[in-house]
Amino acid sequence: MSPSLAFKTAIVPAAGLGTRFLPTTKAVPKELLPVVDTPGIELVAAEAADAGATRLVIVTSPGKDAVVEYFRPQPELEETLNARGKTELLAKVRRAPALLTVETAIQEQALGLGHAVACAEPNLDGDDDAVAVLLPDDLVLPTGVLKRMAQVRAERGGSVLCAFDIPVEQISAYGVFDVEDTADEDVKVVRGMVEKPAAKDAPSTFAAAGRYLLDRAVFDALKRITPGAGGELQLTDAIAMLIAEGAPVHVVVHRGGRHDLGNPGGFLRAAVDFALDHPEYGPDLREWLRDRIKD
Ligand code: UTP
Repeated sequence: MSPSLAFKTAIVPAAGLGTRFLPTTKAVPKELLPVVDTPGIELVAAEAADAGATRLVIVTSPGKDAVVEYFRPQPELEETLNARGKTELLAKVRRAPALLTVETAIQEQALGLGHAVACAEPNLDGDDDAVAVLLPDDLVLPTGVLKRMAQVRAERGGSVLCAFDIPVEQISAYGVFDVEDTADEDVKVVRGMVEKPAAKDAPSTFAAAGRYLLDRAVFDALKRITPGAGGELQLTDAIAMLIAEGAPVHVVVHRGGRHDLGNPGGFLRAAVDFALDHPEYGPDLREWLRDRIKD
């Protein structure tokens, strides 16, 4: 199987409460907050499309329709922009709907990430042997790790996760993999996972990131798990069940950067990072920041 054809469906769970972004998330889903001018969810959808996905299933909660609405074409707006000769804006407006086919799955109650992923099962086709799951809060840079993960699945089967090598003194903030080496330095066999261990108890320095390429068997495991940490149905518990039952699970260690868009501090960093590289806003912002920091 060609690695780029290893999956066609990407699931983006976006039904969480977004409490760290209150009060804004009373009215605006955090997935639509703009990183410079583009919502985080478009960046993640573009990453999925680039890795070969042709369909995006967005798991939303009742009342968060705006996230899916964002991917619908806006013919009237397009006509207006066209008539005014605003070709650059027109291209921006058309970008998201052209990326891939977008469908919705509804999670009635925020019962956990595992539950959110399970809500997308009715959307799958018979030939969806594997699905990608991308957490829209987590920007993994540079993009492209999903392609590498698909390659590893094509070679080794099963499910493939993404890890960052984190300095040991920061490791207790993360879900940490217990791993065994393979001949490839950046591909490890996963034996298990520990949530937020003390540094001295951490089984490795490889921390989980919000990118998963999951064998379809995960949906069966999701039906059998019971509520775990925080009373929620955890995706990692379903993956642990697959491992315990002998299914191959690997991680690809991604040597790059990431931004956590799920909290204001991480979001601001991402916005500044992207804005500094922006041809229109970057130079001014850089100068302003220099002066601001001097003060
Ligand atoms: P988070 O825990 O980071 O998001 O879940 P949250 O719950 O929305 O945010 P806080 O903690 O209250 O601030 C990671 C991803 O999983 C989705 C979230 O939307 C987010 O994209 N999620 C989480 C669901 O779709 N359903 C859930 O029940 C839980």
